[in-house]
Amino acid sequence: MKASNAQVLWQVMEALRDANQLEDALSASLDIFCNMTESKKGTIWMHDAASARTIAVITHGTSDAIGESAAMGEGVVGEVIKNGESKAYKASEVSKLKYAGVDGPDLTGKNLLCVPIKTPQHTIGCILLTGKSVEYTAEEIQIFENCCSVLALDIEDKGFAFRPFEDREPIVNVRGIVKEFMSGEEVRRILKGVDIDVFPGELMVVLGESGCGKSTLLNIIGGMDRMTEGKLIVEGKDMSNPSEDELTEYRREYIGFIFQAYNLMPNLSAYENIEFIGEISDNPMDSMEALRMVGLEAKANSMPTALSGGQMQRVSIARALVKNPKIILADEPTAALDYDTSIKVLKVIEDIVKEHKTTVLMVTHNPEIAKMANRVVKLRDGKISSIRVNLHPLSATDLVW
Ligand SMILES: Nc1ncnc2c1ncn2[C@@H]1O[C@H](COP(=O)(O)OP(=O)(O)OP(=O)(O)O)[C@@H](O)[C@H]1O
Ligand SMILES: [Mg+2]
Repeated sequence: MKASNAQVLWQVMEALRDANQLEDALSASLDIFCNMTESKKGTIWMHDAASARTIAVITHGTSDAIGESAAMGEGVVGEVIKNGESKAYKASEVSKLKYAGVDGPDLTGKNLLCVPIKTPQHTIGCILLTGKSVEYTAEEIQIFENCCSVLALDIEDKGFAFRPFEDREPIVNVRGIVKEFMSGEEVRRILKGVDIDVFPGELMVVLGESGCGKSTLLNIIGGMDRMTEGKLIVEGKDMSNPSEDELTEYRREYIGFIFQAYNLMPNLSAYENIEFIGEISDNPMDSMEALRMVGLEAKANSMPTALSGGQMQRVSIARALVKNPKIILADEPTAALDYDTSIKVLKVIEDIVKEHKTTVLMVTHNPEIAKMANRVVKLRDGKISSIRVNLHPLSATDLVW
């Protein structure tokens, strides 16, 4: 126990007051709870009345709760939502316990605490903490319950409407991905077991410090690099260990890549750079249409040298789009651009997701950019350190840095 009841409550209230968005406040509160109780993992679950399921929306620590959802009464979460009462389990008394359904991660042998987030009328969600070495104390439960009451009031006050992705079948399903590189005689493990689900039509941002493995992960998902261990399933197709032909086919049919460097062909016009890729695709869109989507019809005949950095990046986005890919992977697409130009390019990406319904996975180290995402995954030292749902993503034009 690190802090008193009043101190913790105060910290949570401060987090609620300081955050611009409710998700930030919830995320900050979860960090406070985990630190206070010395829990390695924490998850905030919100109840979705439409589907009558409770879904993991924000996680702290390497979480095995991602992609989980509970029906009423199912698992620890379902039970707390149903009864509206806190549940604490000692490691020794936990057997065959699950967060949610029957197939999820096994919680056997863990100290566990799950507290409802309740308004006077309803239980709207719950917070589950685990990974503490000793059992949760009565005092901790009490503090935690008080904090959850404060959270519930704030959530209600801010008109929090939780709408998860309607289609919960992930388009990309990544499990336990490990990537090792040889460095001289030594094996360096860069990805240490990464789990992610990407849902169709979402904009997911992967945040992380330089060198933490973001590009490595994106390249594996995009079929540009092979994993050492793990599983990658895209639209039900197992791409964990593909042949060269399957890989080529996969990249052509499924993936549009946007890099930090634009890699345009210098001797081809903007239009020709796009048309060239369209010609080798199975299901291309019209090249002019792709240029229109990035707002550059007027530059169709310009050569790359006559375009600005932002315009070149927009041509490279149109080039990714023209294939009509299921997924666009963007690796630091604005890192080489100034602020104004970055916003224009990000707006194009936002429009592609909203209007064209393309799934986009974008890597950046700029936390401000994460505010436009539907979900934000933080990668740290080769592992996922948190996943957050943005219930109110900002428009690119509202980002400031
Ligand atoms: N082909 C390779 N061979 C050996 N080591 C590699 C290779 N590719 C990446 N690495 C190493 O893996 C680590 C992660 O690299 P990665 O490019 O994925 O990081 P990143 O998160 O994208 O960083 P940045 O933000 O700087 O782009 C780095 O230490 C890098 O040196
Ligand atoms: Mg990188």
